[in-house]
Amino acid sequence: LNNGLARTPQMGWNSWNFFACNINETVIKETADALVSTGLADLGYVYVNIDDCWSSLVRDSKGQLVPDPKTFPSGIKALADYVHAKGLKLGIYSDAGIFTCQVRPGSIYHERDDAELFASWGVDYLKYDNCYNLGIKPKERYPPMRDALNATGRTIFYSLCEWGVDDPALWAGKVGNSWRTTDDINDSWASMTTIADLNDKWAAYAGPGGWNDPDMLEVGNGGMTLEEYRAHFSIWALMKAPLLVGCDVRNITAETFEIIGNKEVIDINQDSLGIQGRKVHVSGKDGCRQVWAGPLSGHRLVVALWNRCSKAATITVGWEVLGLESSMSVSIRDLWKHEDLSGDAVASFGSRVAVHDCEMYIFTPVSASRSAV
Ligand code: GLA
Repeated sequence: LNNGLARTPQMGWNSWNFFACNINETVIKETADALVSTGLADLGYVYVNIDDCWSSLVRDSKGQLVPDPKTFPSGIKALADYVHAKGLKLGIYSDAGIFTCQVRPGSIYHERDDAELFASWGVDYLKYDNCYNLGIKPKERYPPMRDALNATGRTIFYSLCEWGVDDPALWAGKVGNSWRTTDDINDSWASMTTIADLNDKWAAYAGPGGWNDPDMLEVGNGGMTLEEYRAHFSIWALMKAPLLVGCDVRNITAETFEIIGNKEVIDINQDSLGIQGRKVHVSGKDGCRQVWAGPLSGHRLVVALWNRCSKAATITVGWEVLGLESSMSVSIRDLWKHEDLSGDAVASFGSRVAVHDCEMYIFTPVSASRSAV
């Protein structure tokens, strides 16, 4: 969507994956505090997004949405002011249907009123869900909210959450700043790998202004190993997915911070070229030895070696799958070890990758003539 936003994928936090409906204004404020105190905000995680369950069960007598007086007694405007004072942005949630998924009032046929209300509160981001949709196609239900947000005069990030229904990559580029390509993620290896593969299919349609959204991060929520979470974060970054942290950042562990706070991996996601990397090569049983890669600015490449086999495996990438001349010398930086490899590589590069882990590298072609050291 051409509204000036999403030149790179959005980064921030969302309440759903960890808190579900157990949210209140204290949790949101403490999360904003934690994003700043941990340094995550400085790394780019600026959207503080409230998901479902912030609103009362019914609209007021004037037909307006009202924050739940028990959990958000100070209102959303006060929360937006709090978050803005910290240099962060506030996101809210509604639904392109008659109810949200947790049966709060939805925004269909109230688009103008609700967009104006969100703008008057100082909201910066809207996630727009797909429950109770009256059987009307997403293509019909999502543009009215785009137009309503646009009419407010406030610049508001528009995140479509249509769960991949009707192949949004094919039509949502003119509607939203990101669109979900799949059903909801859950905190498991099976879910994460399935979603990565589904999202890969739509790589050609992502770019500055509009991104494929394979759903929010589960890193730090406990259902996967550290290797699996490293893979989750690596592949989401490489796929130019929104990086929306889904754990309780108030209680983040050092291990989790090392993953979502890896600036070198974040920089892959936020690279100015904005091209979604893809699965470029598989080998081994059921294609479990995988190479994912994509172009970066400055004629560099990002290359991920992802071991989806059931034990450690050596994964090798040949220059031909990267579109490089086999005689090309390439200097390599390891983004998880934070070190340059000694000596350039020519023709291929391989590494022994731990089970379910993902190694991630930047390849910088040096020259075809310079010989390997
Ligand atoms: C849907 C969305 C989720 C979350 C929940 C909230 O399932 O896809 O991301 O917003 O609704 O109810």
